[in-house]
Amino acid sequence: MSKNQLSKLYEELDEAYADDIVSAPGRTSKKRQSKRSEMDAQLFVRAQEVAGEFKFTYKAARFEEAWLLDSLNEIAGQQLILDVLRKIKAGKEASVYLCRSGSSIDARLLAAKVYRPRTLRNLKNDAIYRTGRTDLSEDGTALFREADVNAIIKRTKYGEELRHTSWIAYEFKTLEILRSAGADVPKPYAMLKNSILMEYVGDDGMSAPTLNSVSLDRDEARQLFDRIILNVDLLLQNERIHGDLSAYNILYWDGDITLIDFPQVVHPELNPSAWTIFHRDITRICQYFASQGVKRDARKLAADLWTSRGHKIAKEVHPSRLNAEDPNDRKLWERQKMG
Ligand SMILES: Nc1ncnc2c1ncn2[C@@H]1O[C@H](COP(=O)(O)OP(=O)(O)OP(=O)(O)O)[C@@H](O)[C@H]1O
Ligand SMILES: [Mg+2]
Repeated sequence: MSKNQLSKLYEELDEAYADDIVSAPGRTSKKRQSKRSEMDAQLFVRAQEVAGEFKFTYKAARFEEAWLLDSLNEIAGQQLILDVLRKIKAGKEASVYLCRSGSSIDARLLAAKVYRPRTLRNLKNDAIYRTGRTDLSEDGTALFREADVNAIIKRTKYGEELRHTSWIAYEFKTLEILRSAGADVPKPYAMLKNSILMEYVGDDGMSAPTLNSVSLDRDEARQLFDRIILNVDLLLQNERIHGDLSAYNILYWDGDITLIDFPQVVHPELNPSAWTIFHRDITRICQYFASQGVKRDARKLAADLWTSRGHKIAKEVHPSRLNAEDPNDRKLWERQKMG
């Protein structure tokens, strides 16, 4: 199978199985079933081809197995991962797996975030976040070659690959920068073609829940709120805004928080929507903490943080330019418009 045929097959499968991965398997039509078995057969062959010595404990569906093997195979020889133990969570953009580390990692377990084929083909609403960002190559350095930049602009197949790499590289690079700045983020270990290996938060039996599913008492809520704002400020000092910050992208474990999920970070000066995106991040955090008994004025807090780092408050951007699919963005904008 050629590389192009293979990536097309993965995309089709991700579409076909999307509902089953995110929620419980639904009813499937006969036609869809037969298309699936045809694709399954092709992937069975592929999984055999790539498996080599790399065998996991985790029993993946056939499509997922081949994709995982293809995604993780390049590191099999590098003593990074010895085994994939279980799936932690299938997100909208990526699935995250618990792995047993190899000897080159300073922890027994690690988390592998493997981006989904569909995400890579169709980076949803990425334009708004990419504005003002220099694309990054696989090693995290800026892409300046004219041919590369042109390929990205013209959206050639090669350009699309560079664009995906850059999306993931932003997540990895941000983790590196924030980690060395002392922020509460997982330690990043390696970036691969379509995945990131990082510190795992949790223990053998259970991975850390996201903050939205946790109830806090008021004292703890106050402390954690301050800690999150400290992290947001640390991001700003490093010229980054999370861009999708909410209680869904913060892990809670042993009384501590860990911020995750950074591919969409934006630059506070170079992105014209930066203030709106920053304000939205703070608003979402305040919404969760209000439900935990900590009430703060999101607009005032955002403005104070923003201006104290020397940024000017710009006109709010219409939500259709942020994330048209998110009803919260629309509500937020309507509220701001009404003052
Ligand atoms: N380092 C980690 N340790 C433990 N669990 C993690 C780690 N990173 C991610 N997870 C789990 O995997 C989930 C998905 O990760 P992440 O938010 O980075 O991906 P995503 O595809 O953007 O997800 P979503 O679309 O749900 O936001 C998280 O909600 C969390 O439950
Ligand atoms: Mg997430």
